Amino acid sequence: MAGGFAAGPGGSQHEGKFTAYVAVACLLAATGGLMFGYDVGISGGVTSMNDFLGKFFPSILRKKLELAGKEGNYCKYDDQGLQAFTSSLYLAGLVATFAASYTTQRFGRKPTMLIAGLFFIAGVVFNAAAENLAMLIIGRILLGCGVGFANQAVPLYLSEIAPTRYRGGLNILFQLNVTIGILIANLINYGTDKLHPWGWRLSLGLAGIPAVLLTVGSLCLCETPNSLIERGHFERGKTVLRRVRGTDNIHEEFDELVEVSRLAKSVEHPYRNLFFSRAYRPQLVISLALQIFQQLTGINAIMFYAPVLFQTLGFESDASLYSAAITGAVNVVSTVVSILTVDRFGRRVLLLEAGVQMFLAQVVIAIILGTGLKEDGSQLSHAAAIVVVCMICTFVSAFAWSWGPLGWLIPSEIFPLEIRSSGQSVVVCTNLLFTFVIAQAFLSMLCHFKYGIFLFFASWVLVMTTFTLFLIPETKGIPIEEMVFVWRRHWLWRRFVPPLPQELEAIEMRKSHDAKA
Ligand code: BGC
Repeated sequence: MAGGFAAGPGGSQHEGKFTAYVAVACLLAATGGLMFGYDVGISGGVTSMNDFLGKFFPSILRKKLELAGKEGNYCKYDDQGLQAFTSSLYLAGLVATFAASYTTQRFGRKPTMLIAGLFFIAGVVFNAAAENLAMLIIGRILLGCGVGFANQAVPLYLSEIAPTRYRGGLNILFQLNVTIGILIANLINYGTDKLHPWGWRLSLGLAGIPAVLLTVGSLCLCETPNSLIERGHFERGKTVLRRVRGTDNIHEEFDELVEVSRLAKSVEHPYRNLFFSRAYRPQLVISLALQIFQQLTGINAIMFYAPVLFQTLGFESDASLYSAAITGAVNVVSTVVSILTVDRFGRRVLLLEAGVQMFLAQVVIAIILGTGLKEDGSQLSHAAAIVVVCMICTFVSAFAWSWGPLGWLIPSEIFPLEIRSSGQSVVVCTNLLFTFVIAQAFLSMLCHFKYGIFLFFASWVLVMTTFTLFLIPETKGIPIEEMVFVWRRHWLWRRFVPPLPQELEAIEMRKSHDAKA
């Protein structure tokens, strides 16, 4: 996903430089994130290209060309097969996450990344060479398997290889790379649209570059110390730790990793604990809600289908592709804004501000479409079309500095050690499940709800903003081991977490007293 990052094992700071190994690991994050973003961004532009539609979905092309102006605008692209082309990737990713969770534990992060790279390469070959719909869908399914394996292993690899103090930054870096991948895909579509009749093959084939990089990268990098220790290779774990940290002074961190691995193994049923133990209810509810709400903002309706959406609104093919590139660029820039502000303003401020901004933008879009886009096939006026693009950018920017990165960051800050890895898998699965639902349903929903689709998403934004207001506590600057105090102070979540031992309660009271003074 995008993938999120689990925080460091104990939360403690150890000596450790930003070594060449760590730098290479960051590059790897770039390819994993880029690959995912590229797959998210490429399908919308490709499905709006006439050459592509003519080859695989001739009936949609016919509808688009012959019936243009004679029937309603909103249903041009309503087709389950076309939506399956986009959505099959996420369903495959969802299933693959379970297998990936097993291989990361049993065989390590490195082989899992290699499997991801090989799936990606196979998927790209099928897609770029596709002669029929079956090849196209098989290609997407293979890419989806790549996403499942990569999103499980790459974030884990990064969080384990990086020194503790860089872990949070790397978390958002992954998201930044996803948005850059989406932007690159949009720009490439803009260029290949002019290459007839095979431009779409180039669009799909260029995903081969990050795929090969990930594969070669996974062959060159070393396994993480955590994984080696988890699988009983203590001496190798120690050697690798020395190498990646660039110092011989690693004993404290090594002992901590051994202890963490012993503790993790002693938890017998992490998934059962996560779902059924009352004490983990706050973390579970908040993490699931963040993922479900993130998709219900409607962001992927824009990311997947922006060019198609803009054509639906009456833009020419060229104009829709560059409008999509503009929204892609806004997405990248606003993610940088998030990186710069998240630790200053805190998570809640960003989520709440963005909620208001997204709500207003969607309501304005609905009003303009409702009044300007008629059922007789007529198009939006030039001025109205420009306002819609601006409002879509307003919406995307709000998402990109809030729910986009924070949907991944907050879960990684709140799961305690004993359920962190299972929590992370559940988070990734929930994300892919709801991404799949939006990808499969959006064009049909647009056809049936018409402009009301934006009111549908706006209503969800209202729900999630209210949820944030009452149920998401601020996690800025709180070390993982102190999260328990945050739950204890919350009006609702305090009922779920067990009471603290008296002496801890006293320390906490003193701290909050000092803070007030
Ligand atoms: C979401 C993706 C989305 C992307 C857009 C991520 O946080 O998980 O579904 O496509 O943001 O930038």
